[in-house]
Amino acid sequence: MKLAGLVCQSTPEEHNMNTGCTLWFTGLSGSGKSTLSQLLASRLRRLGARVEVLDGDIIRTQLCKGLGFSREDREENIQRIGFICELLSRNGVIAIVAAISPYRTGRDRLRQRITNFVEIYMQCPVEVLIQRDVKGLYKKALSGEIGQFTGISDLYEPPLAPEVIIDSSSDLPEPSVEIILRRLEKLGILRVTDMGIAHAQTHGELHPSAWDAVLELSYEI
Ligand code: ADX
Repeated sequence: MKLAGLVCQSTPEEHNMNTGCTLWFTGLSGSGKSTLSQLLASRLRRLGARVEVLDGDIIRTQLCKGLGFSREDREENIQRIGFICELLSRNGVIAIVAAISPYRTGRDRLRQRITNFVEIYMQCPVEVLIQRDVKGLYKKALSGEIGQFTGISDLYEPPLAPEVIIDSSSDLPEPSVEIILRRLEKLGILRVTDMGIAHAQTHGELHPSAWDAVLELSYEI
């Protein structure tokens, strides 16, 4: 079987289990969560990982159909997605979530229940998002046509200690994927099983060009 040189590390007590992880994108609407989650997913799939993307916009038409945007409904939405992530993660899948997930308490609860939970904050000033307004929702929110809109008329609590911060007003998508992959490796959540990482272990920080090579490598088992 052809496998990429990348595995998810398991915690000591789950040594014999094939443990995945949950990469949770949080941030305002239009901050690039969906774009980056898709890019990251295809990159990880190319490395042989099993990946599932759970996107708020899609989940709300299926698993969370009928939920609105009150605090209670958003919390429910997030915890339902979290439950799926829990199942996927413990079965060796990399679950990638793109959901505003505006409340700190809700995200902290996820962190408690999900093994290998990684919070990725898509930071972007709301003024920039209003300018971009890809879906035209900010215009509607500002005019009052949509109520309880996150960042305009509803609360967003930025994470206090996310594992990764992407500045989506300046960081481009492809380099952002690199930032995330490197951080996952540093966190010990992803391990790249090849010569490149041996190099990293003996020489400290992996040189960016070496990292690119590592991510393209694969091997046979
Ligand atoms: S969350 O707050 O419960 O995490 P979720 O990520 O599932 O939100 O859905 C956000 C998406 O719903 C936005 O990207 C936008 O397309 C749409 N949406 C519709 N109404 C609102 C609203 N009031 N606030 C934020 N997003 C909204």
